[in-house]
Amino acid sequence: MAAMAAVGPSSAIIEVKAYSGEQARWYCDQLERGKVIFFSEVPFEFPDEDRKFLLSQKQTGSRFHKNISYRPAKDILKGMASGAEDREHLQRVLRTFSAELTRFVTKFLAPYSGKLKLDFASFRPLEEQGRDLPLHKRNDLLHVDAFPTRPTHGGRILRVFVNINPAADRVWNVGEPFHDFVPRIMGSQKIEPPQRSGFARAFARVASRVGLPVPDRSRYDEYMLYLHDWLKENSDFQQKSPKFELNFPPGSCWMVYTDGVPHAVMSGRYALEQTFIVPPDALVSPDAAPVHVLEGVTHQPMAS
Ligand SMILES: [Fe+2]
Repeated sequence: MAAMAAVGPSSAIIEVKAYSGEQARWYCDQLERGKVIFFSEVPFEFPDEDRKFLLSQKQTGSRFHKNISYRPAKDILKGMASGAEDREHLQRVLRTFSAELTRFVTKFLAPYSGKLKLDFASFRPLEEQGRDLPLHKRNDLLHVDAFPTRPTHGGRILRVFVNINPAADRVWNVGEPFHDFVPRIMGSQKIEPPQRSGFARAFARVASRVGLPVPDRSRYDEYMLYLHDWLKENSDFQQKSPKFELNFPPGSCWMVYTDGVPHAVMSGRYALEQTFIVPPDALVSPDAAPVHVLEGVTHQPMAS
């Protein structure tokens, strides 16, 4: 497969053609400040037979209800019927993908080494264009990511994607970085999630510590979830905020902080993705982190 360049403005995307360890800190900084880092070919071991196997997993009937997720820490596959043929094979492919990608990211973004928290991986076989989803779940509206069940307490969401589609680009729109657009919109209108009582927070903390399925959210997590929904609901923001189209060609790979770059997936199917949570003390440019920006704008502590 011939390598192709991503199409997008240099203000939003940086293509990596060759790299050395000396640039690792600079790449971390650029990512944290809202750039997409792009590779025209997958920069880690990814066997062609695995790609072909994933593409052969045609969506038939109710077999794939949604995206398939893989949880590396527990080696668990979700989203595919337990009796489904090829389930073990799929799990093996995602396990290898996650391990090889993580090995690469640990080297490429060396300042994060030893601090990255490995989150979920996913296989996205469905065509994104025209998906019939409720508003808050739509991927084709600009949003920043926040996980309802996995609060980060100020940690950042770094995601690495691969377009394994042999023929079609994956097309995104991206907007201005968090530290640019959030102070502007919050300077002119009130965007604030409802306050939970101290008791509700204490209860959630204890319940989550004893293993009950109750997320222990900080004020930061409440803000990010609220902002995720607010952005999708706000037609002014969707229509008028500056945005750029990025086209990720077949076989390419890219990484981005999806909590800091508003993004919308406009079309494409067959992508792989791995998520990492980067804790605040690992960041090289903490001034650009959403938690820092929100504390500056609201004058409230966020992550404690
Ligand atoms: Fe997203």
